[in-house]
Order: sequence, then structure tokens, then C-alpha cells
Amino acid sequence: MAEKTLQWLDDRLGLRAIGELAEHKTVPVHSATRWYYFGGITLFLFGIQLITGTLLLFYYRPTVAEGFDSVRFIMTRVEFGWLIRSIHSWSANLLIFTAFVHMFSVVFTHAYRPPRELTWASGIVLLGLALGFGFSGYLLPWNQISYFATKVGTDVAGSTPVIGKAIARILRGGDDVGAPTLTRFFALHVMVLPLIAATLIGVHILLVQKHGMSTPPWISSSGVRQMKFFPNFFLREAMVWYGALAVLGALAAIYPWELGVKADPFASAPKGIRPEWYFLAQFYTLKLIPSRVWVFEGELLGIGGFGAVAAGWALIPVWGVDRAGQARTRLVTGVAIVLAAYLAVFTYLGYVK
Ligand code: HEM
Repeated sequence: MAEKTLQWLDDRLGLRAIGELAEHKTVPVHSATRWYYFGGITLFLFGIQLITGTLLLFYYRPTVAEGFDSVRFIMTRVEFGWLIRSIHSWSANLLIFTAFVHMFSVVFTHAYRPPRELTWASGIVLLGLALGFGFSGYLLPWNQISYFATKVGTDVAGSTPVIGKAIARILRGGDDVGAPTLTRFFALHVMVLPLIAATLIGVHILLVQKHGMSTPPWISSSGVRQMKFFPNFFLREAMVWYGALAVLGALAAIYPWELGVKADPFASAPKGIRPEWYFLAQFYTLKLIPSRVWVFEGELLGIGGFGAVAAGWALIPVWGVDRAGQARTRLVTGVAIVLAAYLAVFTYLGYVK
């Protein structure tokens, strides 16, 4: 019966071709193989976001009058609502963390070199989208901290040279953070970003499938041992996902996500207002820059600097590769160490100061 059903489906969908693809896919086994798991963990967490986000949508109401109360209802009245919301929030943070780890591991194993430039580029956009998810989702509970953090965040975006004012207005739907901002952030968070992200993840994975996993330049790709993707690597990946789910469940149950108090636009900004941890390094850097540096406005200089660093980083496949298509390993590794150290130290300082 099962064989017949499979045959029926195969005649119509060509399912066996997928099976054959999985049958032939292999993963190189070497000292850096464990880093290959991080793309998969990020993918798993994205799946968790889709499921828990959809469940939250059954109760959340995206208005200034009801947004906060609907989240409080989820936390206190809906069965396991607190768990679903806590998993969604913890998973969002873990996803951004694992995407960063995945990106740095790609750099340290020099997997950005040809022919994987587009895999890299799609990854860069995905990281930007993940940060966009975080920024837009933060406002949705409409509490005091999220309201004022969004004010600060959109102010900073508004200081971008030339286009800043327009960006801030488009994001806020007016001059200030208010009801139209919540509507826009909601539309971005549940419709625009998921559609673009799901499409791009599809492209990213197809490219990984097309090119196979890269082998770091210090290992000869001809002599390296290969592991079958299915079932050997797949089962290991499944165990890692199982571990990630356990960590998520434990974090959500032991530290349920807080709700705070409802936003009051007329109250003064709470003391020590700061963004989520993944924007802390930039936030702290801007705090350190004096308001005027020579003839330039300090904040403008800082934002210009971030833009230049981000653009330089996105262009690693251009300057990090020589004419023969080989990675300039020392240069790229050096730059990556400096950037990772800056992010780690400034995130820490932004947190404690
Ligand atoms: C939502 C975010 C992302 C998801 C779901 C994702 C998913 C994946 C998966 C499943 C793989 C194959 C296994 C692995 O190498 O870990 C992969 C490979 C890769 N990813 Fe990502 N990724 C994301 C973000 C990024 C970012 C931010 C970058 C870099 C800017 C990036 C660049 C790459 C590259 C170059 C490869 C090929 C690695 C190789 O061949 O060794 N990805 N990604």
C-alpha cells in the first residue's frame, strides 16, 4: 500500500529525484566540520519563529489601544500563551546570535570565495532581515521600553545622511512614533519580512545544494574524507536541533519573557533606555563620539562609519579574494578578528555602562 502511494506520488511529483539528490549529497569531514551545523540551527530557529509567530497572531491585536492588553492576555489567560511568547522572543535572540556565529564561521573557513559569492550575498541580506525582524517585533507589545527604544532607534536611522529624514518618516508613518508606526511595524513583521526572508532562505539553501559544502583552503579538497548527508549528517543535525529545542524550552520556562508596563508617550523616557543586545555595540559607539568632530556632526560621522564598515564587510568576496580566486586568508581573518573583538567588547560595555 505504502509503495503504491509512493509510486503514485512519484509519477506525479518526481519525488524519487529528491531522494536521489539526498543520496548523493556528501559533507566534508575535517577540523571545522562542526561549524557547518550553525546554518542548520539558524534555519531550525526560523521555523520555530514561523510556528510560534502564527500562534501569537491568533490573539495579538496590532493597535495602540489593544496591543499591550492583548499580549498581557496571552501571557496570563491563554493556555501556554506565556510559553509560546517566551519561546518566540528567546528564539528570535538565539537566531540572531547563531546567524552571527554562522557568518563568522563562513569567514574563518573562507567559504565566501568563488563560486559562493551569491550564497554570501544572500546571507548578508538575511542577517539584515533578521535584525529588521528584531527591531520591528520589539515594538509590538507596545510597552514603555519598546516604545522609547523605537523612538531612539528611528531617531538614529533619521540621522543617516541625505535619506535619513525620509527613512524615519516612512518607518514611523509620521513625525513621531505612534499608532501608524505600530501598524507599519506589524505589517513589516508578519508579512513583508517573512515573505522576503522565506524566499531568500530558499535561494540560500538551493545555492548551498548546488555548490556543496566548501572545504577550508588549508585542507586539500581532493583528499578530504566525505560523510553521507543522508542519513549520517542529517541525523547529527537532528540531534543538534533537539538540543537547541531543549535550550529554548528551558530558557523560556525558567526566564519567561517580561512584559513591563504599557507605553505612555507623555511620560519621560525611562532611565538607561537602550536597544536590544544586537544593536548595543553601535549604540555605545555613538554615545562615545563627541557631538562635533572637527566640522562634522558626531552622530552623522558614526552612522557613516557603520555604513562603510557594513559595506566593506559585505564586499569580502571582492577584496578578500585574489585574481586566481584564492582567499587572502591572513587579511580576511585579521579583519574578522578585529570586528568580532569590537562587537564583543562594545556590546559588553554597552550593557554594563
Ligand atoms: C537566516 C539566516 C541564515 C540561514 C537560515 C542560513 C542557512 C544556511 C545553511 C543551512 C547552510 C548549509 C550548512 C552550513 O554551512 O551551515 C548555509 C551555508 C552558507 N551560508 Fe548561510 N544562513 C543564514 C545566514 C547567512 C549569513 C549571515 C551568511 C554570511 C553573510 C551566510 C553565508 C553562507 C555561506 C557562504 C554558506 C556556504 C558555506 C559552505 O559552503 O561552507 N549565511 N547557510
